[in-house]
Amino acid sequence: MFGKILLAVDGSEHALHATRKAAELARCMKPAELRVVVAYDPIPLYLGEPNMQIVITNRKGEAEEVLTAAVKELGDVPCEIHTELLEGDPAEAILDVATTRKSDVIVIGSRGLGRLAGLLLGSTSQKVVAHAPCPVLIVR
Ligand SMILES: Nc1ncnc2c1ncn2[C@@H]1O[C@H](COP(=O)(O)OP(=O)(O)O)[C@@H](O)[C@H]1O
Ligand SMILES: [Mg+2]
Repeated sequence: MFGKILLAVDGSEHALHATRKAAELARCMKPAELRVVVAYDPIPLYLGEPNMQIVITNRKGEAEEVLTAAVKELGDVPCEIHTELLEGDPAEAILDVATTRKSDVIVIGSRGLGRLAGLLLGSTSQKVVAHAPCPVLIVR
């Protein structure tokens, strides 16, 4: 049913729950691949060198750590795991990957690192579910 699973993580507790559900889903579905992505904010050009390189290195480093933690949390899954670092607005980046990689399902947390505690869905999950080219599993 789901041959290609796309999991989006941001290092939040919610994304951790989403990661565990994505692993369960993969164990049931035995998909061809599970793709884990994290998006980082674009680096403003006005920073200039060498500041720009430092910021790029730091942001990519943090995003790599989030990916590594998610892959560790997935544990043993019966499929290939791919990871991707994306630059830009998280929802747009997730939607782009889902389209280009022809994902069959997107797994995301209901909330993320944002601080607006009253909201049921975060800004990323809202935008992803509104525009996704495939089913979305929003994990609470
Ligand atoms: N930068 C990001 N890269 C990849 N996935 C993300 C990113 N930000 C959020 N997500 C995904 O979207 C879910 C919901 O986060 P979000 O909508 O941003 O909530 P909040 O508004 O609370 O930050 C997260 O649990 C995660 O699965
Ligand atoms: Mg967020």
